[in-house]
Amino acid sequence: MIKNLQDEKSSEIYRLFTHTIIPRPIAWILTENQNKNYNLAPFSYFNAVSSSPPLFSVSIGRKQSGEPKDTLFNITNSKHCVVHIPSKEDAALVMDSSKSLEYGCSETESFSIETTPVQDWPLPRLKKAPIAYYCQFYQKIELGPIPQTLILLEAKSLYLDSKIEETLDPESIQPLARLGGKTFSSLGSSFDIHPSRS
Ligand SMILES: Cc1cc2nc3c(=O)[nH]c(=O)nc-3n(C[C@H](O)[C@H](O)[C@H](O)COP(=O)(O)O)c2cc1C
Repeated sequence: MIKNLQDEKSSEIYRLFTHTIIPRPIAWILTENQNKNYNLAPFSYFNAVSSSPPLFSVSIGRKQSGEPKDTLFNITNSKHCVVHIPSKEDAALVMDSSKSLEYGCSETESFSIETTPVQDWPLPRLKKAPIAYYCQFYQKIELGPIPQTLILLEAKSLYLDSKIEETLDPESIQPLARLGGKTFSSLGSSFDIHPSRS
């Protein structure tokens, strides 16, 4: 079967993408609201796109009202954010933090997600997250009529929990990944491939 995507509604393309471009990593992004508390939300239209400069892409839709999501509003204004890589055990909190709260209402406070200050960085990180990138806004591209906003973030530094910093072993990271709809996964078995000599 071939589907001509030009004939499909954006909701169907979203369904197809999110069920076939899998598993997707999740950026759990902390930003500062204008009333100085912290916003937290997950994004799976997310990946690393460049090592020099060290850039991530995150693609952010609009709220149902058409307004920018709080994460986008805050990053555009304050130019800083912290991108955490959640673990399997964070799944329920990741879902909680995706709820659309009124602007200025903090997900870290509402769902009792503890933060800890970071030296020489304007924002805290989530205390329990084993991986946190301290990022600065780099570029923004508006896509399509709705619009969807693609932002590029420059990773300025990286926090790694001592349990994973030596080996960067995926088994100890246990990253949470998103599949389609409300389905998530974590790592199954992994294997190494040794290139054959030709
Ligand atoms: C695992 C997961 C991944 C998500 N990925 C995205 C995404 O890539 N882009 C997006 O616009 N919304 C995504 N969402 C929905 C946002 O998290 C949701 O709209 C949230 O309320 C945005 O919060 P904010 O307004 O505080 O920024 C995702 C939700 C979940 C649960």
